[in-house]
Amino acid sequence: MAHMRYLIYAEIAEREGYKNIARLFRAIAYAEYVHARNHSRRLSGLDADFKVVAGSAFGPGDTKKNLGQAIRGEIFEVEEMYPAYIKIAELQGDRQALQSFKWALEAEKIHSELYKKALEYLEKGQDMPIDGYIWVCPVCGHTYIGSEPPEKCPICGSPGEKYVKF
Ligand SMILES: [Fe+2]
Ligand SMILES: [Fe+2]
Repeated sequence: MAHMRYLIYAEIAEREGYKNIARLFRAIAYAEYVHARNHSRRLSGLDADFKVVAGSAFGPGDTKKNLGQAIRGEIFEVEEMYPAYIKIAELQGDRQALQSFKWALEAEKIHSELYKKALEYLEKGQDMPIDGYIWVCPVCGHTYIGSEPPEKCPICGSPGEKYVKF
């Protein structure tokens, strides 16, 4: 759900002339796809119909409203959702789910900070400055801004050359 929401927010930011904030939404949308893929991989062998209920607000506004929604969604995931999921996965001894949740949690912390930064600039009527590119680890969703990707992903240890550039 976050993946789709951020892609829609990116289109709106682009229309409003915030090119870098649009890039940020697109990069983080990709990171959310990576999380969804990792979570669904864990479920893929199970013979059951799983339903997803998105607990987050839907219905876009302007970029200011969208960044606010994005920040609240990321903070919810960091402070409530993933910590609860992690406890249950620990209780159930589910190592694959645990790894997927722990990786996502670390990436979401970075997402909330990046969105907060974007909102600070937007409130001054400015686009977010991005020095170089936004890089996303295709294994865990780690998100990083710089001219080059990190040598090694600090969350999952994947080599930097695997990162996807936005
Ligand atoms: Fe996120
Ligand atoms: Fe990673």
